[in-house]
Amino acid sequence: MTKDEEKRRAGRAAMRYVEDGMIVGVGTGSTVAHFIDALAERKHLIEGAVSSSKQSTQRLKQHGIAVLDLNAVGDIPLYVDGADECDPNRCLIKGGGAALTREKIVAAAARVFICIIDSSKRVATLGGFPLPIEVIPMARSYVARELVKRGGQPVWRDGVVTDNGNWILDVHGLRIAKPVELERDLNQIAGVVTVGLFAQRPADIVLIGADEMH
Ligand code: A5P
Repeated sequence: MTKDEEKRRAGRAAMRYVEDGMIVGVGTGSTVAHFIDALAERKHLIEGAVSSSKQSTQRLKQHGIAVLDLNAVGDIPLYVDGADECDPNRCLIKGGGAALTREKIVAAAARVFICIIDSSKRVATLGGFPLPIEVIPMARSYVARELVKRGGQPVWRDGVVTDNGNWILDVHGLRIAKPVELERDLNQIAGVVTVGLFAQRPADIVLIGADEMH
């Protein structure tokens, strides 16, 4: 099966968790695009979506799905998003599409987080995929030096500005044996907005194609 077919199946499989009347948190990326397309078929049955990026907002609106402001809704029952890597504990690396900050906010506000991936994203240890970190522009060099002290090789994603007006450093060379601890540590560096490690709040359920990994 191709990667895209696995992504399509994962996106459609996530519909199992969508109930009538729900507000659905929606992530970002090519796998989520399949989910949004599937969600559109039930758009009259849900209350609306909370989006994690301008990209997803555009696709949701194209389908006529109501996009709601997170500040105007309470807890979100369900959040569906992709990932760049997923370990056996459902800890994730995210941010390949630079949407990590809003993704982390919507994931934090959601009761259930379903991660949809193709099988190439499964890894024993996180870190093969360079870890994205969103930084305040003036802090880029300082944060990069702090990352080098921790054994990483940060590369500025030159030319990319996030939806929040910030920049991205992609950190190569990290073998992430303790994702919860590393997320906590990196969050303390002044100028870091968001670390693309989703370990303190991992996914609750991972769908690899249509197959479930709890
Ligand atoms: C967006 O910033 C990312 O966190 C995406 O969720 C991740 O890159 C997965 O994208 P694909 O579904 O396109 O592989």
